[in-house]
Amino acid sequence: MRGFRRKQAIEELTMKKILLVNGPNLRLLGRREPEIYGHDTLADIVDACRECAGELGFELVDFQSDSEGELISCIGEAPLKDIAGIIINPAGYTHTSVALHDALLAADLPAVEVHLSNIFKREDFRHTSITGSACIGVVAGFGKESYVLAVRALAARLQ
Ligand code: DQA
Repeated sequence: MRGFRRKQAIEELTMKKILLVNGPNLRLLGRREPEIYGHDTLADIVDACRECAGELGFELVDFQSDSEGELISCIGEAPLKDIAGIIINPAGYTHTSVALHDALLAADLPAVEVHLSNIFKREDFRHTSITGSACIGVVAGFGKESYVLAVRALAARLQ
């Protein structure tokens, strides 16, 4: 391998990684309450994030689970997998999970919380984010764009 191809391969190997974590019910996006969450599927959102991350020189790794334990394990393993930062939509666990909050603190990586909907404009029980205080910032209310904004914000912090 030589010249441009070699340089490209080295760049890919040394690209910093961003982990995108999506919580419960987000695999249903596209058909889940589209009047609130829009028509984009989770695959559309992950593609948009990967494209944006790539343009900014980062590799995007993604994970979705409905299980709190699996989400916690994934975040716990992130520092061992050379992850530089985390973007997380904890979905319903945002409002309930001390354990996910603690996992984010334990990982000790910069994290951005993201929501498709504006959680402050919805039911009272969504106004509190337990996980948000373990993150450097929160983006909410812009649909798919919330995720892309989160990628930009995290990339700026990591650069
Ligand atoms: C959500 C908001 C949460 O309140 C809800 O439980 C979700 C999705 C959002 O992206 O707007 O599942 O995190």
